[in-house]
Amino acid sequence: MNTEDTRVLLEEIDGYIEGLFGPSDEVLEAALRDSRRGGLPEINVSPNQGRLMRLLVEIAGARRILEIGTLGGYSAIHLARGLPDDGTMISLEIDEHHADVARNNLERAGLSKTVEVRVGDAHELLSDLVENDEGPFDLIFIDADKEGYPDYLDASMRLVRPGSLILGDNTIRGGTVLDPAEETARATREFNRRVAEDPRLSGIVLPLIRERIDGITIARVL
Ligand code: SAH
Ligand code: DHB
Ligand code: MG
Repeated sequence: MNTEDTRVLLEEIDGYIEGLFGPSDEVLEAALRDSRRGGLPEINVSPNQGRLMRLLVEIAGARRILEIGTLGGYSAIHLARGLPDDGTMISLEIDEHHADVARNNLERAGLSKTVEVRVGDAHELLSDLVENDEGPFDLIFIDADKEGYPDYLDASMRLVRPGSLILGDNTIRGGTVLDPAEETARATREFNRRVAEDPRLSGIVLPLIRERIDGITIARVL
């Protein structure tokens, strides 16, 4: 099969699964619509990935979630929906406008009391979280600038307990991680290697399909 046929097939498979499980959800659709209207880049997780992450929240019995990279709050809505009523989530975002759009989307989703969006550079906000002893989190989703992933993993290790999950988005990136000449994927490669080699973690890099192949790294703290 040629590349174009493969791309179409991937999209059709993803769409098939989405159609099975996803009677369109007004709150999620509205979040995407307002993100688009606000000029935000369309780099949110897919509906299927959102469902996977919600399932992980539920399986882990997570009560406290940390997200690094909010954008318009689309993934935050999926994650927070897996929490129990008294569960809480903090999401870190560097861009004030993204954070504004996200807060509106979370409000519409009835999650403004559950999810706190903190604005600033995640490197600094994570240091504050460690310093102020705001951990442990039961699940951490890393999805901000890809160069930051190795540092975000270090910080995350200081904000978890045994049994916590650490997720990393975009860890296959259309296969660019395979190419040592791809400088942009260097940090992602390092992130995946460190998850694989860290004796404190048990994990997997799980390929995911959309219109291209990407992946999510899932690690459990031993
Ligand atoms: N999790 C979102 C997508 C996040 S896109 C979803 O799936 O719906 C990545 C986000 O990380 C962008 O909004 C970007 O502004 C933010 N970001 C980039 N660098 C950052 C940094 N250093 N600190 C905090 N946020 C950052
Ligand atoms: C990009 C970032 C993401 O977090 C994502 O899920 C997809 C694409 C990007 O920066 O291109
Ligand atoms: Mg992402």
